[in-house]
Amino acid sequence: MTRLTIVEFGGTRHDFDVENGTTVMETAVRNSVPGIEAECGGACACATCHVYVDADWAAAAGRPDPMEEDMLDFAYDVRPTSRLSCQIKMTGALDGLVVHVPERQA
Ligand code: FES
Repeated sequence: MTRLTIVEFGGTRHDFDVENGTTVMETAVRNSVPGIEAECGGACACATCHVYVDADWAAAAGRPDPMEEDMLDFAYDVRPTSRLSCQIKMTGALDGLVVHVPERQA
């Protein structure tokens, strides 16, 4: 199992042990974490699963691919560490990953 922490905009932390291969979005939705809407269900077609990867994890999480980058143009308050959480697959290399939910989705 791999540890994942999702921090709400207000600072509330949600700590999970997740299966490798699941996405950050799937964990957020299954556990009703406020602020992750994921309207398209993970198809990289809505930008309502936007998160900020914690600065300590930005390098490990990697950069968005071109399709994700295009969708991020529709997200609210995009920053250098912005990612779509449906495009972040958990692996052992991300054990301990922390992401932050933005103030609102697009
Ligand atoms: Fe729609 Fe991630 S759930 S882009």
